[in-house]
Amino acid sequence: MSKTKIESREWNSAQYHQLSNPQVSWGKKLLSRLQMRGDELLLDAGCGTGRLTAELLRSLPRGRIVALDLSQKMMSTAREHLALQFGGRVRFVVADLQALPLKRAFDGVVSTAAFHWVPDHDRLFSNLHTILRPSGWLHAQCGGGPNLLKLRQRVNMLIASPQYAKFFASFREPWVFDDPETAAGAMRRAGFVDVEAALEPAPTILDDARQYSEFLTAIVLRAHLHHLPDPRLHARFIAELTEQAAFDSPPFSLDYWRLNLSARAS
Ligand SMILES: C[S@@+](CC[C@H](N)C(=O)[O-])C[C@H]1O[C@@H](n2cnc3c(N)ncnc32)[C@H](O)[C@@H]1O
Repeated sequence: MSKTKIESREWNSAQYHQLSNPQVSWGKKLLSRLQMRGDELLLDAGCGTGRLTAELLRSLPRGRIVALDLSQKMMSTAREHLALQFGGRVRFVVADLQALPLKRAFDGVVSTAAFHWVPDHDRLFSNLHTILRPSGWLHAQCGGGPNLLKLRQRVNMLIASPQYAKFFASFREPWVFDDPETAAGAMRRAGFVDVEAALEPAPTILDDARQYSEFLTAIVLRAHLHHLPDPRLHARFIAELTEQAAFDSPPFSLDYWRLNLSARAS
């Protein structure tokens, strides 16, 4: 695999671990809706650094979790935080959700803030359906609908401007923000039943310019920054967006929308 392709999978996991309070608070909302026996085998699909995997393990006293992620760095940070505390109840797998090697193994799949980073949702849901036991469940939350529309418009203006356009000639947005109907259609095509999909606003206000620029750099625009050749350009690009966000009301706010998904395997 090319160096650029490997880099584009990677995250600054130490920074994500520090900055991901918004993702953790959305994830906790999803976890609070789960009704479990306590002994299930679950997949945390796109587990990141495992902050929510830890919450899930706490509510699953006799159960086990496979924490799966595409990023080696996310996985090693997750291992550091979870292995000692939860021992054999958690296993770590680096894999692509679009190509899962297992069949009919899991009682349930949980996923938070990950599916919009996966390009092919038909393959994603078909893989998730294959790894679930009959009647196994899926509960997920990801970006959807008009997620980050205001920021995306600003970013798209900036990357079309003369100083950046040459770096973004082959660029495509790295996310898939489905609307509920599109996601539900993909889930039904994959074989899921009892499908539910709904959007929820999740506006998020960051503390100040510094936190906003760190959040854009490490999380929201990490894939965009791979297209800029040097760190000075990264800093300038993020600074321009941070200056614009300072004039928003409230300042440093992000127009997040979450897509909540649930279904059962047939
Ligand atoms: C924003 S993080 C969310 C992490 C965690 N679930 C949370 O809520 O904090 C998105 C995660 O999805 C993972 N991811 C993206 N595409 C993936 C894929 N195709 N297969 C597996 N994981 C993927 C990323 O590596 C990243 O760790």
